[in-house]
Formats: sequence, structure tokens, C-alpha cells
Amino acid sequence: MATQKPLQNLTFEPMCVSDLQQVLDIENECFEDPWSATYFTLSLKRPRSYEFFYVARCEDTIMGYIVFAVLYEEAHILNIAVPTAYRGQGIGKYLLASALEMIALHDGREVFLEVAVSNLPAQYLYRQFGFRICGIRKNYYGRHKDAYVFRKGAAEIDAT
Ligand SMILES: CC(C)(COP(=O)(O)OP(=O)(O)OC[C@H]1O[C@@H](n2cnc3c(N)ncnc32)[C@H](O)[C@@H]1OP(=O)(O)O)[C@@H](O)C(=O)NCCC(=O)NCCS
Repeated sequence: MATQKPLQNLTFEPMCVSDLQQVLDIENECFEDPWSATYFTLSLKRPRSYEFFYVARCEDTIMGYIVFAVLYEEAHILNIAVPTAYRGQGIGKYLLASALEMIALHDGREVFLEVAVSNLPAQYLYRQFGFRICGIRKNYYGRHKDAYVFRKGAAEIDAT
């Protein structure tokens, strides 16, 4: 799947410290158990070579972000969020397609992620990109909140 921009001025670029307030607002809006400000701040101030924090930016507005890690040939999508106001315009697809391109450039051959069993919009997004369920983690998001593990292999990465 080619990376198509849903909006003309949208860019995919590394998250900066100056993006943090907008990112935290989105994180708090999107998740019941959000990542902390401290975690984001430390990750940006002391980046790890295998971890990537990227935003979809339209001028000064952060329209979503994605966090992923690539270690040897294995990659993991750790976080993806688009604020409610901007959903349904292809920004999630743009973030995921852009991240998969970067993962391929960093020699990632397999990509994994966890998604709540109840989170159907995200599961539809991942399925479009060739991700398939390869496991289940019981109580991953808390009591009775299971997660599916989704996997996308090298063949599907090459085909995107
Ligand atoms: C999942 C998320 C990132 C999708 O972002 P988005 O910008 O709305 O996604 P897109 O507009 O690019 O849509 C991509 C695909 O996702 C699926 N999708 C998105 N919203 C959907 C909805 N409400 N119902 C069903 N499918 C949906 C569709 O397959 C869609 O493709 P289509 O438009 O060709 O049908 C967004 O809903 C979000 O931030 N959710 C909260 C955070 C979250 O759950 N993150 C994932 C954690 S694992």
C-alpha cells in the first residue's frame, strides 16, 4: 500500500519536545490508561536508537502520532493515535504506511502489535495492511480486557 497523503500539507516527521503538549492532549483523549508525560519527555530527551516517535503534522497542528521500535529484524508498533476530530480522513493509514516504510528501511522483517479485542476500528486498520492475529494476551489492558497480538510478516511488508 503506497503512502498517500490524506491532506496536502501533511508531513511525517520525528516528534519534538515542542510537540509534547499536543501529543499528551491526544494521548489523554484517546486512551483510558495513557502513557505519562514523563515517559514521553524522557524518551524524546534520551532517545534510544531502536525507538521511533513520529508525528503527522499539518503546519503547527499535530494530527496524530505513531511510536514503533525496530530491534534486529523484529519491529513492534507501540502506539498510534489520531484525535477524534481528525479521524476517518486517512491519517491513521498515513501514519502506519509511513512507519512500515521506515521499518523496511531499517531491515524489519516482522512487525507485531497488541490491540484490544474490543477495538474494532484499529483492528480493521491493521487488517488492511496485512496484519493477522497470531495470539491473545489475557488481561493485557486490565482485568477482562484482553489483547490480540497481530503480526505482519516479511512478505506482506514487501508488498506494501
Ligand atoms: C485507530 C485510529 C488510529 C485510526 O485512525 P484514523 O485516522 O481514523 O484512520 P483512517 O481514517 O486512516 O482509517 C483507516 C482504516 O481504519 C478503519 N477504521 C477507522 N475508523 C473506523 C471505524 N470507526 N469503524 C470501523 N473501521 C474504522 C477502516 O478500515 C479504515 O479504512 P477505510 O477508510 O478504507 O475503511 C484511531 O481510531 C485512533 O486513534 N483510535 C484511538 C487510539 C487507538 O485505539 N489506537 C490503536 C491502539 S492498538
